[in-house]
Amino acid sequence: MFQSTVASAAIVGSAAYLAGYAHTAATDRPPMLQVALIGASGHASDVLSLIESLNRDAPAEHYSHCRVVGLFHSDPASMDSRRFEDRDVEVLALDTLVGLAAEMTGLRYIACVGYPSDRQDVAQSAAVVGLEPLTVVHRTAAIGTNVTLGTGVVILAQTSISPVASIGDHSYISHGALVGHDTIIGAYSSLMPGCSVSGDCIVGPGSTIGSNATVLEKIEIGAGATVGAGAVVTRNVAAGDTVVGAPAKVVSSRR
Ligand SMILES: CC(C)(COP(=O)(O)OP(=O)(O)OC[C@H]1O[C@@H](n2cnc3c(N)ncnc32)[C@H](O)[C@@H]1OP(=O)(O)O)[C@@H](O)C(=O)NCCC(=O)NCCS
Repeated sequence: MFQSTVASAAIVGSAAYLAGYAHTAATDRPPMLQVALIGASGHASDVLSLIESLNRDAPAEHYSHCRVVGLFHSDPASMDSRRFEDRDVEVLALDTLVGLAAEMTGLRYIACVGYPSDRQDVAQSAAVVGLEPLTVVHRTAAIGTNVTLGTGVVILAQTSISPVASIGDHSYISHGALVGHDTIIGAYSSLMPGCSVSGDCIVGPGSTIGSNATVLEKIEIGAGATVGAGAVVTRNVAAGDTVVGAPAKVVSSRR
């Protein structure tokens, strides 16, 4: 049994979690998960790629696969469809998702939009139509002991979540991001590629930590704050502030 706590609706790719999904007989295996990706931008493309890799790597006779029923966008015609060519998925009108949610029992969704506040809006609307969020974790993510993952969390490749860390609902942990031991990442946060949040930090809900930024240990990042790409955060950041540079300084504030 794996020790970490994962939201019930999860497909996960690290060896430890796959152990939790192993079944001895083909008839025992969990049913295929069906998921709607809400969003059709590069963010959605990354999430789709993660699901594609999980389906490719897990033998179907032992593990539940995940079928993406569509990428849903309010204006499909405005999206650059080339990024989804040859990927066995369609970009569909968001309106159609309401009917689909009613028809398909157990349909899950992932909010695949970049801004934390937009992700929160998506999650609220999805809850109204009865969709349940799905958590997906790349098989190369190193997930420590007693890590807690919320619902609707996305964890991309080559990431590391140290022991006793907690990742809030609908957070997005991008390629190569590191989360230190005992650190709490609030709901709807985005950790951009290559950033490091050290141990014993608290990142407030709806925060963004930019690419390759470093947050030193025991720092508190307030709700809705933004840390610029490459910043080194040496002091607490107030809610709604944007900080850049090394050491990081405030450049704007939404307080
Ligand atoms: C910090 C950030 C959010 C600021 O965006 P913004 O509010 O639009 O601010 P601006 O672009 O107007 O920049 C404000 C000032 O900060 C500077 N600045 C912006 N980002 C900076 C950064 N990462 N490091 C250092 N200085 C930065 C700008 O040069 C500008 O300085 P000036 O007033 O002297 O000209 C943004 O630049 C950033 O770094 N976002 C993270 C991006 C990221 O990691 N993306 C991942 C994609 S996968």
